[in-house]
Amino acid sequence: EDDPRPYPSTKRLTLVSNRLPVTINRSKNGQFQYHKSSGGLVTCMSGLGPDQSSNWYGWPGSVESHHNCKVRAELMQDHGAVPVFLEQELASRHYNGFSNSVLWPLLHYQDSLIAFKDCDWQAYQKVNRQFAVEIAFNAADGDTVWIHDYHLMLLPQMLREETEKRGKRLVIGFFLHTPFPSGDMFRILPVWREILEGVLHSDLIGFHAPSYDTNFKRTCSDLLKLVELPTGVQFQDRFVRTSDFPVGLDPEKILDCLQKDEVKRRISALKEQNPNMKYIIGVDRVDYVKGIPQKVDALDLFFEEHPEMLRKVTIIQVAVPSREDNPEYRDLATRIHQRVDEINTKYGDQSYQPINLIHQSVPIEDLLALYASSDVCLITSIRDGMNLVSFEYVACQSERRGVLLLSEFAGASERLAGSLLFNPWDKEGTAAALHRALTMDMDERTVNHRKAEEFVMKNTRYGAYDFKYPSRLRKLTCKNRSAHW
Ligand code: ADP
Ligand code: F6P
Repeated sequence: EDDPRPYPSTKRLTLVSNRLPVTINRSKNGQFQYHKSSGGLVTCMSGLGPDQSSNWYGWPGSVESHHNCKVRAELMQDHGAVPVFLEQELASRHYNGFSNSVLWPLLHYQDSLIAFKDCDWQAYQKVNRQFAVEIAFNAADGDTVWIHDYHLMLLPQMLREETEKRGKRLVIGFFLHTPFPSGDMFRILPVWREILEGVLHSDLIGFHAPSYDTNFKRTCSDLLKLVELPTGVQFQDRFVRTSDFPVGLDPEKILDCLQKDEVKRRISALKEQNPNMKYIIGVDRVDYVKGIPQKVDALDLFFEEHPEMLRKVTIIQVAVPSREDNPEYRDLATRIHQRVDEINTKYGDQSYQPINLIHQSVPIEDLLALYASSDVCLITSIRDGMNLVSFEYVACQSERRGVLLLSEFAGASERLAGSLLFNPWDKEGTAAALHRALTMDMDERTVNHRKAEEFVMKNTRYGAYDFKYPSRLRKLTCKNRSAHW
């Protein structure tokens, strides 16, 4: 059972997530290719900094590379990544099955999309156990392990079991990058007890938003009858601390990138192309939680009510492909294309298309140029853990001071002052908010932008909340250690 591979580094903080910062796949000529993974988790956790960073365990997205020492060495050397190779069907049942067809819709209140299958649940347990065994083998007594997201909710418990067998004790943190719903929603899950207890073996549990923390504690007290306190819950013989630790960006990195000649060239090109056009930017993974159909419906109504805006406003919607093995996601992509075509036919012609749908992954330089050139950023998530796109837009707006139109169902709305909040289920309200954003005067935009910018610059990933997390965790667990260990 013990893996003979040496522990790749002596650093004592270990990150764990299902997705690594790079994903591997194989090109047609048989070469392994590495590409940066997209998504908020990677954005906020990448480049933790050499002093704090450590090994990052995760699934590399490929099985063929399993026994490839070169791949293993390159992942470690270039990305600090330790691959947990999973057999293909097991990985699919874990990722497409239980994680993305049960937990993801459950955590985002999409109960009609939950498809629970026992074989997927078995796979979820096996994958969590495999992570636990591999990490436990390499961990040293006293190490801190920081586990991320809903794919690994059993890992805190399994890791305790595997390390205690080997006489090691770890400090375990768990961070959820999605919302945590109300208990009434959570108890739909046939295995709610196993999942809750799995996570509760952590020392500290973090969420993006205060409401998710409240929901979690309330769920523990309602369903498991645990004693709930403002700072956490009492579980078995330990006090498990819970709190919100909103993640942020590295704004300096974005500002540096905006100074690059190629980004400046792209910004100028957009301006020259159509100097009087107002741009609305949307950047979302193609995921039903992002509310892209709701966005398109609201745009339809907006143009119907404000024909004077035609030819003056263009929406650039970057739709990053996501989870394409899941039929729900493929159907969504098809529906989005159909609706966008309808709108472009209804309001556009050969010289003007109101919606420019870019259904592909876009390089960061293009993304930043689009953010910087847009007058409005429209985020219509029907549920969203945090939404870092909203932060990125603000970071790119020091000159233009564009308006951030933010769904009140995105975690960022609980934090980001200066944004215009709206309910994406209210089509009329969304269209009205869009009109208000497009006609807002510079004074109001400046006041709003300053508030938002202050938050984004302060609440960085190196800032007050997020990356103090491991040290807080250590301190906290020292107390727990003396009390219970
Ligand atoms: P989610 O985690 O649900 O995808 P977020 O808005 O929190 O939503 O994060 C999305 C992140 O993905 C942003 O930081 C965005 O810049 C990033 N992103 C978007 N497109 C790409 C891409 N092509 N490659 C890498 N990252 C991308
Ligand atoms: O925000 C939730 C999340 O699962 C993140 O962990 C990740 O950044 C993003 O969605 C992308 O998901 P996936 O890993 O399935 O591509």
